[in-house]
Amino acid sequence: MPKKTIEHVEVASSTVLMRVDFNVPLDDAGQITDDLRIRMALPSIKSVIDRGGRLILISHLGRPEGKGVEPSLSLKPIADRLGQLLDGAKVRFVPDDCVGSQATEAVAALSDGQVLVLENLRFDAGEKKGDKEFAAKLAALAHIYCNDAFGTAHRNDASMVAVPQAMSGKPRVAGLLMDKELSFLSETLRSPKKPFVAVLGGAKVSDKLGVLHNLMGKVDTILMGGAMSYTLLKALGFDMGSSMVQLGMLKQAQQIIDEAAASPTDLILPNDHVCGKQISRMTPMKICKDSIESGWMGLDIGPETVSQFVEEIRKAKTILWNGPMGVFETKPFDVGTKQIAEAIAQATDSGAVSIIGGGETAAAVDEFGLAERFSHISTGGGASLQMLEGKEFASVNLLEKA
Ligand code: 3PG
Repeated sequence: MPKKTIEHVEVASSTVLMRVDFNVPLDDAGQITDDLRIRMALPSIKSVIDRGGRLILISHLGRPEGKGVEPSLSLKPIADRLGQLLDGAKVRFVPDDCVGSQATEAVAALSDGQVLVLENLRFDAGEKKGDKEFAAKLAALAHIYCNDAFGTAHRNDASMVAVPQAMSGKPRVAGLLMDKELSFLSETLRSPKKPFVAVLGGAKVSDKLGVLHNLMGKVDTILMGGAMSYTLLKALGFDMGSSMVQLGMLKQAQQIIDEAAASPTDLILPNDHVCGKQISRMTPMKICKDSIESGWMGLDIGPETVSQFVEEIRKAKTILWNGPMGVFETKPFDVGTKQIAEAIAQATDSGAVSIIGGGETAAAVDEFGLAERFSHISTGGGASLQMLEGKEFASVNLLEKA
């Protein structure tokens, strides 16, 4: 069900409390290594300030202990980056407590069109606990609640659930990123254009069981690569050499195979593999057909599998991709993932809708320089996976319907 968005509410001279997901990766020196989540929040931020709203941004960063400020997880560098992305506009920042007197004073001093970032919500233990008192203090700061933190939508943290609950009676709307994510991950999957192909990969089949069960019967074809496919191939009786196989998951793997056989969904597994002796650029390599000999491990999908997958992707009108096809971080085992990414980009050019799951898959397409070529790249890792599992989120249910 579509949600009312920030664009549907009058914000001029009103204070908007916007929950964003600024949980971005930082290097050892505390530098932001990927600002995608900040950039993706810009449309909602601009929508408020360009219309004369007074904007308070709240987010978590990392997993602090909840016992006060941890300087390495301060939101200050994120506020600075936001200022750069807003063409040097001044972004105010309140250090220390996000619900203390300093925060209240800074909010009271906001003028129309100004932005204020509060310190990391998780420095206060109340955030993770979903604490109502903590939430009431945040709720008291604003007239309007906006949730644009899709990456955190699967969490019941105070700012996601207890704050909008405390703001009942006031406008509680989705941000534009949240709206886009929901429309692609939930609405498109509900009524996809057919054929609908899901490309699933990654290391562990245990991480994708919920997604596999949910997609079975909904998609026409599942193309499975990555080490998760080795567990299914092992369950089918193939020798997988020293490949990564989840031996404790063979029963569940067999269930997936049986479920696919009984459903209209075709499950296609790799029939050849690029193998090495270890995960290294220098390792000897060979292509193994069907089984993998002892002493060798599968590290990418093989050329025949790539051709077969590309053929299916070309025919698709909706494509969902979650998880790499091999150990793409180590060349030359990135080739399969790259060729699949290119095939999906080409299918998108020809009119297919393509949805790329967050996390590793988003990182892969970014590394290949293809990020602009898909219909949607999700900013959620855990959140997009849980949405693909068909789960409902309390944080989303609390937002007003359009
Ligand atoms: C994420 O990166 O998945 C979200 O920001 C949620 O972070 P969390 O897993 O620490 O709750």
